Amino acid sequence: MNGLSNPTAQAVDNVLIYIFGSSLLLLFGITVTTVYFVIKYRRSKCPEPTSECHGNWLLEIIWTVLPTLIVLTMFWYGWTNYIGLTRVPEGAMEIKGTARMWSWMFEYPNGRRTNKIYVPVGTPVQMKLNSVDVLHSFFIPAFRIKKDTVPGMETYVWFEATEAGNYDVFCAEYCGVGHADMMTQVVALTPEDYAVWEREQEPAGDPRGLVVINEQGCTGCHSLDGSDGIGPSLFELAGKTRQVVKDGQTIEIPIDADYLIRALREPDAEIVAGYEGMMPPYDDSIISDADAQAVADYLLGKTGAAAPQINADQVLEENGCTGCHSLDGSDGIAPSLFELAGKTRQVEKDGQTLEIPIDAAYLRRAVREPNSELVAGYAPMMPAYDSDTISDAQLQAVINKLLDIKTETAAAPGPDGAELVEMNGCLGCHSTDGSADIAPSFKGLGSREVTIERNGEELTLKVDADYLRRALLEPNADLVKDYSPMMPAADYLSKEEIDAIIEYLQKQ
Ligand code: CUA
Repeated sequence: MNGLSNPTAQAVDNVLIYIFGSSLLLLFGITVTTVYFVIKYRRSKCPEPTSECHGNWLLEIIWTVLPTLIVLTMFWYGWTNYIGLTRVPEGAMEIKGTARMWSWMFEYPNGRRTNKIYVPVGTPVQMKLNSVDVLHSFFIPAFRIKKDTVPGMETYVWFEATEAGNYDVFCAEYCGVGHADMMTQVVALTPEDYAVWEREQEPAGDPRGLVVINEQGCTGCHSLDGSDGIGPSLFELAGKTRQVVKDGQTIEIPIDADYLIRALREPDAEIVAGYEGMMPPYDDSIISDADAQAVADYLLGKTGAAAPQINADQVLEENGCTGCHSLDGSDGIAPSLFELAGKTRQVEKDGQTLEIPIDAAYLRRAVREPNSELVAGYAPMMPAYDSDTISDAQLQAVINKLLDIKTETAAAPGPDGAELVEMNGCLGCHSTDGSADIAPSFKGLGSREVTIERNGEELTLKVDADYLRRALLEPNADLVKDYSPMMPAADYLSKEEIDAIIEYLQKQ
């Protein structure tokens, strides 16, 4: 027990000390008297009772009235302090607390949401508590307050931090596997620091999707770094597929924005294979459509400079780009804008014809100064679009769109990883179905960790492209635990072939 001077802790501690103290005093007094009498009136000293006393009114009254008074003072003291815990002081700041398996979310009067409780020192705070799924219990040991959060019912509790610092908050009602991790903190700031915190509306620089993920406490179950959790990790999802159980069948579906939003809105409809359906659905009253989209964009790594509100199609339309440039590969007055990513283009620059890669920088130049690099075979007729006509943010959105058209349509040319693995006999030792005999299986490789031995020491590594490259080129440098060194180095493969195999393995 620490000697905090905040009002709720004081109220509880005072009652505890009073009740515990008086009980201790009585225990001590009664024990001492008993021992004294046992010794004084022991049989060897006075074998026969001599007292003729049959009653004593005075004594009867004293030992009835005195304990009654003591118990009543305990009740009175406990009651008044209990009332003090339920009566929220006037002018208290209100914060809404929402509990869910297995995280906390707090909402301030101005709509800001966090997953820690930020409060100014010296101001009483009323927590209005709710739960979206099962019973939880909001417990701040340092303030001696604990209150159940009940689905469909608002409960409350108040506290006042009198010293700046961090105070632990726990869930004190068993609520499932993640119960023990359902922790957060009260961050008590000096009034000056709190004013600063209040002014900065969003954590500086964080993309909206990440802000929402933090607010909603998603990371209570889903890691963002590929490590295992109660739910599947949200690390590097773009371009991956996922095995889900839908209507009793296991199917493989691509991880795209639609899937991620479905997984938020109706998590039980498609459950990732190997996990249990335990996530509560997040409807649009909790996460708006725009925020859900921001979360999907963030997880898919599309949080570049493109501002979410900008519609690239509209920018292309409004500025008349599609009058000359087609978006579907058909010929026009000017080069088509279809499937640009990864391509190169022949341009004439300063009288010379050169081949340059089509990237964001090139596209930006092509809009801002169209005639400095002219696509070979086309006449210089495009006007320059400065930032007054197409803002930098709009241009970025257009570029993202143009470079993105490929991801849906253009198939990656070059060697196919699956064929290479087959052709090079990898499957003679490595299975793809999870069975491991001569060598580790490829199944689930992209999302696995391996324990390897390096110079006699055991190390656990994430399976990433670097690891796979080493495993291919120097297979015996980092030997997977419990396997013998028998794989030949694949250094006869080209760099492209190695890359293709790595890409294939990461998708397993
Ligand atoms: Cu929530 Cu235990």
